[in-house]
Amino acid sequence: MSTPLEPDKRQRDELNEAVLSYLDGWYQAPSELDALGTAITADLIAHLGTPPTEEGRSIHSILEDIDAAGQSGIYHASPGHMSYIPNGGLYSGALADLLASGLNRYTGVANAAPGMTAIEQGVIKWILSLFDFPEAGAGVLLSGGSMANFTAVVAARTAHLGDEFGTGVIYVTDRTHHSIAKGARLAGIRNTQIVPIGTDEDLRMDSQQLRERIESDRHAGLSPFLIVGSAGTTDTGTVDLLDELADIASELGLWLHVDAAYGGFFQMTTRGDAALRGIKRADSIALDPHKGLSIPFGVGAVIVRDEAHLIDANEGRGAYLVPEDMHMGMRDISSLGPELSRPNRGVLVWLPLQLHGLGAFREALDSSLDLARGAYDRLVTIAGIETPWQPDLSIVAFRFEDDDVGRAAIEAVRADRTVHLSPTNIDDRFVLRFAILNRRSTQDHVDHAIDIIEKTLAG
Ligand SMILES: Cc1ncc(COP(=O)(O)O)c(C=O)c1O
Repeated sequence: MSTPLEPDKRQRDELNEAVLSYLDGWYQAPSELDALGTAITADLIAHLGTPPTEEGRSIHSILEDIDAAGQSGIYHASPGHMSYIPNGGLYSGALADLLASGLNRYTGVANAAPGMTAIEQGVIKWILSLFDFPEAGAGVLLSGGSMANFTAVVAARTAHLGDEFGTGVIYVTDRTHHSIAKGARLAGIRNTQIVPIGTDEDLRMDSQQLRERIESDRHAGLSPFLIVGSAGTTDTGTVDLLDELADIASELGLWLHVDAAYGGFFQMTTRGDAALRGIKRADSIALDPHKGLSIPFGVGAVIVRDEAHLIDANEGRGAYLVPEDMHMGMRDISSLGPELSRPNRGVLVWLPLQLHGLGAFREALDSSLDLARGAYDRLVTIAGIETPWQPDLSIVAFRFEDDDVGRAAIEAVRADRTVHLSPTNIDDRFVLRFAILNRRSTQDHVDHAIDIIEKTLAG
C-alpha cells in the first residue's frame, strides 16, 4: 500500500524508525567507510535514475537505494579523507537539517519567520564578532563559498562602480579559487577585467606588483575596484599578506574581499588568529560553515563591514511582499542576498554550535593544525620529497624531485582506498597535498598515507 502524503501516527512511526535507524547505522561506521568509497556501476547509475512509479514503494526499498548511492564515491567525512577540502559528518548537523526542513519556516522575509530569522542573524552576529566587524556589519548564509564570493563581488561592484562597470578591474592571483572568476562572470564582468597578480616564493600575492598594476591600470583609464585576498588557498592553504593588501586597498580606494571559505574558521584558534592577520580589515569575507565547522553541505556565509553594501546590491521588492524589509529590528534575509525563498540555513549552524559549544569546534580545528604541522615535519625528512611551502593552516602541499614518482604515489594512495589525497599543479609541477580539516582524522591516518608515499619512493 502506498504511503499517503499525510501519514498517520503509525505510518510516521514506521518511517521514523526506518530512516533514523538507518542513519544511526551510517553514523556507527564512519571509520569503516573507505575514504574512496565504493566504485559505482553503470547498472546502479541506471537503476538510481529510474523514474518514480504511480503508486510509490516502501521506505525500506528506498533506503536500500539511498545506501547504495551514499556508499559510492569519495566520502568527505571519512577519517582518511585528506583530499580537496574535507568536511561534514556531524550528526547534530544532520538532525539540525531534519528540524530545519521539518519545520520548514520561510526565512526569506523576517515577519514570516521572526524566530528563525533571529536564530540566523544570531549566527551571523557571532561570525561578525569573530572578525571584530563593526555594529554596522551584516552578512547572509548562502549555499557555499562560491555564492558567498559571488555576492561579495556584486557588493563591491555596486559600491564602487554602480551600473557602469565595463572598465572595472579585479585583482587576484593564479592561486585564487576559481569561484571568484566565475562569480565575476556571473556578475557581468569579463575575463579580461580579472587581472592575475604574480606571487612571491611563498605563493602570496606580490604586494608591490599589485600596487604598480593598480596605478598603471588607473593611468590607462580603467577602474580598479576590488582586490581579492585568500585566507587559505585551496592548493596550499596559503594566506596572503592581508595587512599589506588592506593597506593598498585603503590607500588606493579599493574594496578588499578575503576568500576565507577554507580557512576562515581557524580564526577561532590562537594560531589561526595569528595566521590570518589583517583579515579583520577586509570589506567582506567569505566563509564556509560546511567546511570549517563540518555543517552539512549547502551552508556558506558572506559578511560585510557595512550592511548598506549588501542591501544596495540585492535590493528588489514586489507589491506582493510586506512593504518594509524590517521586522522587530530584524532585516529580511532576502534583502541581504540573491535568494528570496531559501533553506533555513541558520538552524544548521546554530544547533550544533549551541549543542557542542565553541570549545569543541576550536579543539577540532586545533587538532587539524597539529596534524598538518606533524605531516610537514615528517615530509621534510624524506629524501625525494620537496617541501617548499610551510603550512600556514592545515593544508600541506609538497612535490617530488621526480613528478612521475608523485603520480605513482597518488595511484598507490588511491589503490589503498582507506586514505585519500588529491593533487594539484603549481608552476607546471605535480604537487600532492594533505588537506586536513576532518575532526575524525588522526595521526594514524596521516602516517598511513605517508607510509604509502615512502614505499613508493623506495620503489
Ligand atoms: C578557497 C575556496 N574558496 C571558495 C570555494 C568554493 O566553495 P564552495 O564549494 O562551498 O562553493 C572553495 C572550495 O573548496 C575554496 O577552497
